[in-house]
Amino acid sequence: MTDYKIAPSILSADFARLGEEVDNVLSAGADMVHFDVMDNHYVPNLTIGPLVCEALRKHGVTAPIDVHLMIKPVDRIIPDFAEAGANYITFHPEASEHVDRSLQLVRDCGCKAGLVFNPATPLDVLKYVMEKVDMVLLMSVNPGFGGQKFIPGTLDKLREARALIDASGRDIRLEVDGGVKVDNIRAVAEAGADTFVAGSAIFGTDDYRKTIESMRAELAQ
Ligand code: DX5
Ligand code: ZN
Repeated sequence: MTDYKIAPSILSADFARLGEEVDNVLSAGADMVHFDVMDNHYVPNLTIGPLVCEALRKHGVTAPIDVHLMIKPVDRIIPDFAEAGANYITFHPEASEHVDRSLQLVRDCGCKAGLVFNPATPLDVLKYVMEKVDMVLLMSVNPGFGGQKFIPGTLDKLREARALIDASGRDIRLEVDGGVKVDNIRAVAEAGADTFVAGSAIFGTDDYRKTIESMRAELAQ
């Protein structure tokens, strides 16, 4: 049985009550916190940095924090996020001059390392760095905003990524990010994903527990 993980993206949370929102979504059954970092340079939006990650830890959040860097460059901020309590740090290959070095840096800082692929970015680099990757994240929207529509071509790409991961025999999570909802999570899982980011689909509902339970029910079918 696949160990599915649900990772609510706090991009759609109420930032004025962030600690409470994260507590609520975790007690509603979420497995980890997806933390979207944007710089108004690599993507056209601006969000949160290591101080907010650290604040969540100080608030008492113990669940894994999955930091998704949509910033360029990445190396300077990686140690700061590790210090701030990140567990996973993922970045886009286009945002690093030296992908292998950045992955190594994440691991040297004690975190799990991941590569993120935009909808039109091929998976090619993966085969050269497979042994340095703990997570592959496929974007199913163009990065920058919550609440966008799932791009259907991601399903084929997920199958491609799943085959590469299985062929490697390594313990690598396959995460998908963007437009994941109760009504498509099953198809996304069938295509090979085991970790599901969902922002608006969870934070946009009144009852987080009910939404997460509905997602798990779809996954259990
Ligand atoms: C988009 C972010 C996502 C976003 C997902 O750039 O990386 O994590 O918050 O939001 P939804 O689930 O609403 O598409
Ligand atoms: Zn994200």
